[in-house]
Amino acid sequence: MTDMNECYLNGDYVDLADARVSALDRGFIFGEGIYEVIGVHSRKPFAVSHHLNRLDLNLSEMGLSNPLSSEAWSNLISNLISRNQCVFGTVYIQVTRGSAPRNHEFPNSICPTVFAMISESKADKELEKVVAITTEDERWKGCHIKTTSLFANTRLRNLAASKGAAEAILTHDGYLTEGASSSVFIVSTDGEIYTSPLKSNILPGITREVVIRLSVSMGTPVIEEKIAISRLRTADEIWLTNTSSGIRCVSRLDEGIVGDGQHYEVAQRFHKQLCIEKGIML
Ligand code: PDD
Repeated sequence: MTDMNECYLNGDYVDLADARVSALDRGFIFGEGIYEVIGVHSRKPFAVSHHLNRLDLNLSEMGLSNPLSSEAWSNLISNLISRNQCVFGTVYIQVTRGSAPRNHEFPNSICPTVFAMISESKADKELEKVVAITTEDERWKGCHIKTTSLFANTRLRNLAASKGAAEAILTHDGYLTEGASSSVFIVSTDGEIYTSPLKSNILPGITREVVIRLSVSMGTPVIEEKIAISRLRTADEIWLTNTSSGIRCVSRLDEGIVGDGQHYEVAQRFHKQLCIEKGIML
């Protein structure tokens, strides 16, 4: 990536340091926005149509019509990659309701704010192992919406960080929901793979969707069912999945070692397959 970091704001490409939005933007005042994070691998965006579909659904949840066509979004994403000469990284896009005098009621017609930026990262070639904690899911009842109002998530991630962990795995009423910034899978001692079913208590992760699709062609279809905390604690493998980090394995959960703490054979196979899917040379 070049030194210059060009982002997109309301129709223009500008240096990120010069991008300005109104202090009355409802994204700033109320956290009223929708976002997407799209992976870039070897200069190519991954699973763009899935991300754009989810964006569309989320904008409808917010009562906003999509400000750009799918083609315009795809062009915008490609332009950011080429303008910044990004090889591996993520494109972040955000749409807020726009700027209006502060009032809880939605204004009648204002122009949404459309912002997109790109960040560079390393290719996730190695299967990463991380420490995680479990904690109560204290988020709201609309976790299926990818909203920029993320204080509950950032608070939970920071609780994990304060305990030396990379992620907080969230539970409610004795069952797993998801991670503060990831979907969660487990591999049981008999080799079956499970993940929480899609309800309004979890985000429909794109990586989750890709992993489920791969699991069918790999002959071990993921079972979507509620997972009790006791099953989480006795799992052979626990995976965290998201766009920025692909598949990561939890080697320690709270005070317990997961599996043998080192070798996660099923995850390794899926990680390899996911890398192939993304066009990453291992
Ligand atoms: N977050 N669940 C939550 C709560 C998340 O925040 C994320 C991703 C996921 C995984 O979704 P996907 O596979 O579509 O990335 C699940 C992103 C990476 C973020 O907020 O930066």
